[in-house]
Amino acid sequence: MAQKDFIDTNNFTKEQITEIIQLGLRLKDCVKKGYYPPLLKNKTLGMIFEQSSTRTRVSFETAMTQLGGHAQYLAPGQIQLGGHETVADTARVLSRLVDILMARVQKHQTIVELANNSTIPVINGMSDYNHPTQEIGDAITMVENIPEGKNIEDCKVVFVGDATQVCVSLMFITTKLGMKFVHFGPEGHQMKPEIQEIGRKNCELSGASIMVTDNAQEALSGADFVYTDVWYGLYEAELSKEERMRIFYPKYQVNNALLDIAGPNVKFMHCLPASRDEEVTDEVMDGHRSIAFDEAENRLSAMRALLVYFIPKTHVSDEDARRAKSALEEFMASMNINMSLGGGL
Ligand code: CP
Repeated sequence: MAQKDFIDTNNFTKEQITEIIQLGLRLKDCVKKGYYPPLLKNKTLGMIFEQSSTRTRVSFETAMTQLGGHAQYLAPGQIQLGGHETVADTARVLSRLVDILMARVQKHQTIVELANNSTIPVINGMSDYNHPTQEIGDAITMVENIPEGKNIEDCKVVFVGDATQVCVSLMFITTKLGMKFVHFGPEGHQMKPEIQEIGRKNCELSGASIMVTDNAQEALSGADFVYTDVWYGLYEAELSKEERMRIFYPKYQVNNALLDIAGPNVKFMHCLPASRDEEVTDEVMDGHRSIAFDEAENRLSAMRALLVYFIPKTHVSDEDARRAKSALEEFMASMNINMSLGGGL
């Protein structure tokens, strides 16, 4: 494993991404069967959030707990980052205090700077550019729902609506994995040419394809997965409700009529949170074709895998630990501190 950090899936090969997906599936199976492998025992994750989060925050914290570690929530306004302490100094300090770091940031440059100045792994919990932990959860969900008789490379995935960072990320991972990716969105809200170019490079290696269109029939026919995200725009580029309805509604709303173009077996996905009755209707979100909540659960599958994959694999021998324990026992006895030292050594 060459990369210290998980900032962008484009820094990884298809084989590496597939390993992470398979690790996620295997760990999910263990936990479902009641075995919680203590792979992160005594490890601490620092979690910086410049933006609010439900799924990313909770899944990271739960993954650490389930695998024997601990997570610290470093809330906006409660750590020095954003005050007078620089991103680089924050990275240097946290590298001494925790084992692995994740951050959800306003600007992609912040996550890059954190990674460049950390000696520990840094995981991107979403930026204004991409959302790679969502990508892994989405890939796990698609692998679990591959139609009978198909391979993942045979599947067609359609993202409907605004070219958010989730749209971009879905394109990155599907083209990495060799799938057929379509963005069905209005002109002015389609993926930028330079972003599409990154996907086309993935396609050359994997045999995947990319299409960007505003034609519903062309986009949806034969789709195995239909995916959408809010129409809000990104961060400070957020649109007013009036504006987004004018641009996207009704053509880009995922409702039963739109899903029917793909067929009865298509699966509906959403990164969540959803704005019901804007980009998706209740009938779709709560309908039999929706796997949006399985997808939310797989954020946890993804986090377990990413934490295990990226956490530094330091090894201390039992003999070193026994010696340290004896030395501490002797020292404490010399101070008349009589406490029993457990630790199973
Ligand atoms: N999908 C996603 O990242 O959700 P949160 O914003 O709740 O973390």
